[in-house]
Amino acid sequence: MKFLISNWKMNGDVEFAENFFEKINSVKTKNRIIVCPPFPLLYKFQNFAHSLGSQNCSAKTNGAFTGEVSPLLLKDFGCEYVIIGHSERRRMFKESDEIIFAKYNTLVELGITPIVCVGENEDEKSEWREVLLIQLHKFMNDGNLSKAIIAYEPVWSIGSGKTPTMDEIYKVLNFLKETTHFSCPTIYGGSVNINNIEDILKIPPVDGVLIGGASLRIAEFSKMIQSSSQI
Ligand code: PGA
Repeated sequence: MKFLISNWKMNGDVEFAENFFEKINSVKTKNRIIVCPPFPLLYKFQNFAHSLGSQNCSAKTNGAFTGEVSPLLLKDFGCEYVIIGHSERRRMFKESDEIIFAKYNTLVELGITPIVCVGENEDEKSEWREVLLIQLHKFMNDGNLSKAIIAYEPVWSIGSGKTPTMDEIYKVLNFLKETTHFSCPTIYGGSVNINNIEDILKIPPVDGVLIGGASLRIAEFSKMIQSSSQI
């Protein structure tokens, strides 16, 4: 079973959500499809045949935190997964490894699966090992890591159309498997599309993919689900 996670980012509206639901709801697969729309569109996914996730959450469950969204509320809306530590949040919203770890702990406590994103940026390409070790430092020996998913997303490949070579993905995901003592699924994200999804999913340590742009092209995403069902 592979994970195909659709990260809409800050895209989509009510009409798009309705179209997406209608087309994707009826696609059958043995793999796990997880759709992560913006918060206000979660209500459009009641009775969805696949799984629901969110793109972020607060590390707290309630209180005076204006503008934050409680993971408890996300659970009420049917979210079984939450993406945390996406590079866009690390970079633009200054999320630290500490805050990401706090979110992870809250999610695990609530029985929601954290999808923890890690990855090096363009300047750090040659030091990817060191970067990943720093980002994963707190997680490595955590007894709850089996309840998470680790997503390797090289920052330079997100939305750029550039991906690492298959051999590079193999190397990094193997490293992640070893670092996390083979305790949790490890997935790849960054410019995954209809042309490369099968090759990427066939790499042994790759348990799934995190898809941004291509998952917003509904027909393409539907084909991606179908073609990955043979793997
Ligand atoms: P992309 O985004 O597929 O558009 O590169 C992936 C992500 O940011 O999760």
